[in-house]
Amino acid sequence: MRRPFIAGNWKMHLDRGGAVALAAGIARRAAEFPSVDLAVCPPFVYLDAVGAAIAGSSLGLGAQNMCAEPQGAFTGEISAAMLTNVGCKYVILGHSERRAIYKESNADVNRKLLAALAAQLTPIVCVGELLSEREAGRTKEVVAEQFAGSFAGVSAEQMVRCVIAYEPVWAIGTGKVATPEQAEEVHRDLRGLIEVRYNSGIADQIRIQYGGSVKPDNAKSLLSQPNIDGALVGGASLKVDDFLGIAAGAQS
Ligand code: PGA
Repeated sequence: MRRPFIAGNWKMHLDRGGAVALAAGIARRAAEFPSVDLAVCPPFVYLDAVGAAIAGSSLGLGAQNMCAEPQGAFTGEISAAMLTNVGCKYVILGHSERRAIYKESNADVNRKLLAALAAQLTPIVCVGELLSEREAGRTKEVVAEQFAGSFAGVSAEQMVRCVIAYEPVWAIGTGKVATPEQAEEVHRDLRGLIEVRYNSGIADQIRIQYGGSVKPDNAKSLLSQPNIDGALVGGASLKVDDFLGIAAGAQS
């Protein structure tokens, strides 16, 4: 059985005090959701402070991005080892904002993914189609291409340590959530791709989160789909009650 996993992507929001208060508020109540894995992904500069605020709780810490290089002259970049050094367990890779605004390709995501795995981080790899691609009937093809490119060269042993987030770009920050059926269809396709590349045992183990305007009031219907194993939450992860309301939708 796959354990539901709800992660908060705080993006470029909050200040130091706000980040610590939000993390502490979630950590304090995390034990109310023993059947769900929970994590928060604050901006880099608050990782240390948030890590300290959640120490001893079941809440996990993640980053929103990283550099594929291990170290060196890469001004402004953050390595996988730096993330584990400040207590990160997870790293979000290939978020659609990274792909669209910072022009990250599948090959870039793949290099980061291999570096994250080498550093024992759990990557949360985002895939998802644009509205124009959905309207052109290309969702399945786009997601398959992102999966193939992002996970190139990933062994079976490495694959089971990965999380995938299906985030239709048209649903991110727009309030337009995919219907449970629309999301489930893509999650099922993704699991099928994992099965073809590896095997059904591995496909059964991989958690696939849905992301895109997940809120407490739509979480349960999404999370009750057989192939939806959690959520990557943006806007609603910035309030303790909203984030934990989503976690409640995942709790069995
Ligand atoms: P949203 O963002 O929940 O605000 O739509 C999701 C995401 O970008 O991961």
